[in-house]
Amino acid sequence: MSRQLEVREVLQRIVSSARALLGAQYAALGVPDDNDGFAQFVVDGVSDEQWRAIGPLPRQHGILAAMLHEANPQRLADLRQDPRFGGWPDAHPELGAFLGLPIVDGEEILGAIFLANEHDPAQGPPRAFTAEDERLLRILAAHAAIALTNARLYERSRELTLVGERARIAHELHDAVSQKLFSLRLTAQAAAALVTRDPDRARAELAQVSRLAAEAADELRGVVVELRPAALDEDGLLPTLQSHVEVLDRAHAADVSFRHDRVGALPPAQEEAVLRVAQEALHNALRHSGATGVRVELLAAGGRRVRLRVADDGRGFEPEQVRRAGRHLGLVSMRDRASGVGGSLRIESFPGRGTVVELEVPGG
Ligand SMILES: Nc1ncnc2c1ncn2[C@@H]1O[C@H](COP(=O)(O)OP(=O)(O)OP(=O)(O)O)[C@@H](O)[C@H]1O
Ligand SMILES: [Mg+2]
Repeated sequence: MSRQLEVREVLQRIVSSARALLGAQYAALGVPDDNDGFAQFVVDGVSDEQWRAIGPLPRQHGILAAMLHEANPQRLADLRQDPRFGGWPDAHPELGAFLGLPIVDGEEILGAIFLANEHDPAQGPPRAFTAEDERLLRILAAHAAIALTNARLYERSRELTLVGERARIAHELHDAVSQKLFSLRLTAQAAAALVTRDPDRARAELAQVSRLAAEAADELRGVVVELRPAALDEDGLLPTLQSHVEVLDRAHAADVSFRHDRVGALPPAQEEAVLRVAQEALHNALRHSGATGVRVELLAAGGRRVRLRVADDGRGFEPEQVRRAGRHLGLVSMRDRASGVGGSLRIESFPGRGTVVELEVPGG
């Protein structure tokens, strides 16, 4: 019973069972919200028509409040005689006998389940509930507690995966797309500056804008369907890095170079991590450091490990400070990429002394 996730259905079943088992005329179960009302309220023994006529859901007051706020069971021969009884809407049945129990999980009150019999003067006094009834209802309340706790755990785990998923997509978008868009902006600005002075070069820059836009669209599509960068599959890591460096070298004033040892092939996930970290480290160096030179190296590090090194001679920064400031995705994403493939990332930088980013990953 408690395995089902359609919690409302389970609660409905518990309420109907309670009414049938204990021979009550009415049964209800309420899960409070934070505003003195009910997030869920299921009833049995009330027709749809009656339900509509009664109107809005009850509030957490009077006897309901005693169960929900103090976890006190309530067994009353006649509800209406209780000093806490505050009346009910016109269309509400005139209840007499009442039995209600809190639904608890440890210390926490999750809701309340209650039964009632109508007070009908023509029928004589309503049947009162017994201690045995209370014992039975306690068992059903325990079932309801399990159902509610399960539902809550399920919601919580769903939220957690959603949060994880959001972080992943944010990083993918950052790595794949925001860099492309940044280059696109730069190129568009260059084109704008050249339009009157040098229309031919402006035209060439605009062609580059259109290429970059197409690439950004491809990368975006890749993020959505979780594809690796296409160039990795087509050309492999070394040529992909090589051409990436060449493109940046041409596009920026800084001298960007690439050098590599003979390194064995890496598993696909490691290759992707190396490429993404190289792209972000390069991007940061070109955007933030004012470097005149940026060197990218792919080195054999022993034991089939491979080390990527991106070093610039720019102004440097304080990684610890940036980390505490939060908000930036690049450094976080590089660390995630590294740990995601069993690798490690080291950033060495001091103001005025350039920056070295080193990623080491296990080989195949
Ligand atoms: N090579 C570098 N030289 C100088 N400063 C750097 C370098 N790399 C990073 N930084 C500094 O660290 C900050 C954080 O970098 P990070 O890549 O996390 O974020 P970002 O580049 O500002 O934004 P994005 O989230 O788009 O990457 C940068 O804003 C910059 O101040
Ligand atoms: Mg960055």
